[in-house]
Amino acid sequence: MAANRSEIEYLQLDEQQSFVQKVQAYLADKSTRAAYVHSYGCQANVAEGEKIKGVLSQLGFGFTENIEEADLILLNTCAVREGAEDRVFGNVGALKHNKRRNPELIIGLCGCMMQQKSVVERLRRSFPHVDLVFGTNAIHRLPQMLYGCLTQGRVIEKPEDEIDTTVVEEIPTRRDNTLKAWLPIMYGCDNFCSYCIVPYVRGRERSRSPQRVLEEAKRIVEGGAKEITLLGQNVNSYGKGLSEEERINFSELLRRINDIPGDFRIRFMTSHPKDCTKELIDTIAECEKVAPFLHLPVQSGSDRVLDVMNRRYTAEHYLSLIDYARERIPGVAFSSDIIVGFPGESEQDFEKTMELIRKVRYSNLFTFIYSPRGGTKAAEMEDPVPAKEKSRWFQSMLKEQEQIVRDLHEEMVGTVHRVLVEDDNGPAENGSHKLAGRTGSNVLTELYGSPDLVGNFVTVKITKAYNRSVDAEMI
Ligand code: SAH
Ligand code: SF4
Ligand code: F3S
Repeated sequence: MAANRSEIEYLQLDEQQSFVQKVQAYLADKSTRAAYVHSYGCQANVAEGEKIKGVLSQLGFGFTENIEEADLILLNTCAVREGAEDRVFGNVGALKHNKRRNPELIIGLCGCMMQQKSVVERLRRSFPHVDLVFGTNAIHRLPQMLYGCLTQGRVIEKPEDEIDTTVVEEIPTRRDNTLKAWLPIMYGCDNFCSYCIVPYVRGRERSRSPQRVLEEAKRIVEGGAKEITLLGQNVNSYGKGLSEEERINFSELLRRINDIPGDFRIRFMTSHPKDCTKELIDTIAECEKVAPFLHLPVQSGSDRVLDVMNRRYTAEHYLSLIDYARERIPGVAFSSDIIVGFPGESEQDFEKTMELIRKVRYSNLFTFIYSPRGGTKAAEMEDPVPAKEKSRWFQSMLKEQEQIVRDLHEEMVGTVHRVLVEDDNGPAENGSHKLAGRTGSNVLTELYGSPDLVGNFVTVKITKAYNRSVDAEMI
């Protein structure tokens, strides 16, 4: 099985090699070839955007942040909520003018939305200025598709009926950030939370081999990165489906990455509470490079809603994980995703979520108003609560959360943290610069110091709290 899989991988990439040369030759006599690539949605998409850039770079493209200058525009889309889709359609519509000005311009769309038949049909029919469409699993075929676009015209790939679960390795990556790297360890999702479109547009869960992940992690560290974030829709089920010889669980993967020599920090997302184990929490506690931070999306504090969401845990179980993590990991911080206004959610259900938020005291909360997604179970459910009421709940949650974060920041004053300095925000008085970075617990921290500190860890004492950040001084 494993041997067979790697055969497919190399075959596909070999075939592409001839197209790489063809595109390179085609572009050789063109004066400009700047690509604009924008990824919407989650970090998995951002990481794939970096692979797209890797392939384009191999083909001879340079990159621009200015969409008006681009010869190739690629929008890497997200389908998780309606708003995300509307934004993409709006932006693509506006590109009609760019195409009129520059008929040579290639406009492409890829990512999760392109895995929906209705979307692709609409683009084919109503957006003739779109030249290229491909789904979440086709990045390795980009040379071939682009060659088709350059020499023959539109290439609109239909979504696959069933997404191929072959893990294609060795797609080149061009990372946007050399200090903090995204590292996908698995793809797809098998959980089918009733509101969520991800399992439909990303296909079944599959893990990369631990050896591949470790090799890439080593390369990232050797390349000078100081933070690696491991990515998967549910990292806690990492390893499922790997062959017996190579199968390890997520905790073991963390330990092996932790053993890579060098001064760097490890983060990961996302952990599904139903699969979050004490072993994982112990591992975070025991591995010095793993940040004391857990993104553990709860979605709701009401057991009734959690059940209809198909989340497969209770609020009580969730809180027991939080308590255990607090006990084992000094200074641990939590973040979460919450859906407000799930079909049939009552004010009492909502109050239970508010109660849970007050108990956990998240340092960061991503709050979303429920958005029905065609094809999911929840989209068929009765949804009697008016949008206005949902919006009122949503606002009261934001307000509560703002106060919680402010209080957490106040409590940090006087404590000592290790901060990775990421940004130089310009000169300040007395010759030093205003710098910004993050603590292990992911709090935005501002301090004064030499710009040479960017890219380094410093030890600081927190001096002042704000709503969104804290000030610190080096010790
Ligand atoms: N795999 C991750 C999250 C993926 S999507 C996890 O299980 O936590 C990111 C977040 O988007 C979800 O956690 C959820 O809070 C939100 N989301 C997903 N579908 C949604 C929908 N239909 N409406 C509103 N929010 C949604
Ligand atoms: Fe969506 Fe649930 Fe899978 Fe997360 S675990 S991607 S919320 S189905
Ligand atoms: Fe969006 Fe796809 Fe991620 S739907 S949230 S970009 S997996």
